[in-house]
Amino acid sequence: MSDDNKSIHEFDFKLICEYFSSLERQGPGSPEVTLKALSFIDNLKKDSRIADIGCGTGGQTMVLAEQAPGHITGIDLFPDFIDIFNANSRNRGLQDRVVGMVGSMDQLPFRNEELDLIWSEGAIYNIGFERGISQWHRLLRKGGFIAVSEASWFTAERPAEIDRFWKAEYPGIDIISTKVKQMEKAGYVPVATFVLPENCWTDHFYVPQVSAREKFLQKYAGNQNAEDLVKNQRHEAELYDRYRAFYGYVFYIGKKI
Ligand SMILES: C[S@@+](CC[C@H](N)C(=O)[O-])C[C@H]1O[C@@H](n2cnc3c(N)ncnc32)[C@H](O)[C@@H]1O
Repeated sequence: MSDDNKSIHEFDFKLICEYFSSLERQGPGSPEVTLKALSFIDNLKKDSRIADIGCGTGGQTMVLAEQAPGHITGIDLFPDFIDIFNANSRNRGLQDRVVGMVGSMDQLPFRNEELDLIWSEGAIYNIGFERGISQWHRLLRKGGFIAVSEASWFTAERPAEIDRFWKAEYPGIDIISTKVKQMEKAGYVPVATFVLPENCWTDHFYVPQVSAREKFLQKYAGNQNAEDLVKNQRHEAELYDRYRAFYGYVFYIGKKI
């Protein structure tokens, strides 16, 4: 990372939330990928309990809900995202079985073995993949599934610039085989692992940010923090463009044994 680019961790959460709340998704992903991950999960029924952790405004949750039976609880730290989530659920007539709640992924409001499926797209990094999958294990019933997407290296070595960037943003990033071993160690049988296509980053994440950025900058003209946040997001998109051969998001699906 060059010296004049801040890490995302240095920005005011309120500002980050506002920037991302106008977007359908707050991280890389797509409806096709959500459905592909879901295709590896069986045994869901009308009375199944599903949690979508770090659900954001619910872009992926609504896709999941339209295909999967059961009751889905979306959990996110930020109340503004949960308000949008619940409005999205109501607009689709899903409010009886898809409910958003404010909460933290390190203190989840579920009993041991209450859940049939734990879902989390692009969010587990907030407490770290290894810690998250280990802590959440007790909440799943035996035979239940976990499906999480996570930033991962594609190669054992990579250019220094991108290595430095990710070490500052998320030191837990690692190669796919290490993440699979972590799943086994945490008590899951790895069921499937697949790399998200590049359009999850471009068409579904960075492209929608272009018009969102314009509106955001108009609203916050002259606000240095807002301008820095936009600069930071642009920088992240440029890095992806340059270094996409070395990293991406990977879906990890496991079954509790
Ligand atoms: C990159 S976004 C992904 C959102 C959504 N799953 C998606 O793919 O569009 C990460 C999400 O994690 C949420 N988050 C961050 N820390 C959290 C925590 N401790 N507990 C719950 N959610 C958290 C953020 O508010 C944000 O919505």
